[in-house]
Amino acid sequence: MSDVELIEAARQVQKNAYAPYSNFKIGVAILGNDSQIYTGVNVESSSYGLTICAERGAVCKAVAAGCKIFAKIVVYSSCSPPATPCGACRQVLYEFGQDLQVICVNDHNEIVRYELSQLLPEGFRLKDKQN
Ligand code: THU
Repeated sequence: MSDVELIEAARQVQKNAYAPYSNFKIGVAILGNDSQIYTGVNVESSSYGLTICAERGAVCKAVAAGCKIFAKIVVYSSCSPPATPCGACRQVLYEFGQDLQVICVNDHNEIVRYELSQLLPEGFRLKDKQN
């Protein structure tokens, strides 16, 4: 699976984002280790705090399909520089592996690449802890 295909999946799904309050649409495509693409969009709510980020929507879709190991995630936005995952989403992604490649892209084809461990150093994992 090429990055171009994954980016295109995120670009396409961004159109389905439900963001009437912020007008800030995000599309996400996760490449699972099963070679499937799991997409997500942000879904806002009149009760603003109930908004669900695109990244977490995509993670839920992947896990529900039985995929818990991810190779890459593309976060597609329309701002410059391209949006990176919020703190909460970084922690949720970290649950499934700190070596995840995070590719942030926008409409101007600006591409910024990270490893999740750069975006979330010392993330929390319960299974690493002893009590
Ligand atoms: N948003 C995401 O979907 N992912 C992020 O990582 C950052 C923020 C959404 C939530 C909200 O609908 C809009 O962007 C503005 O915050």
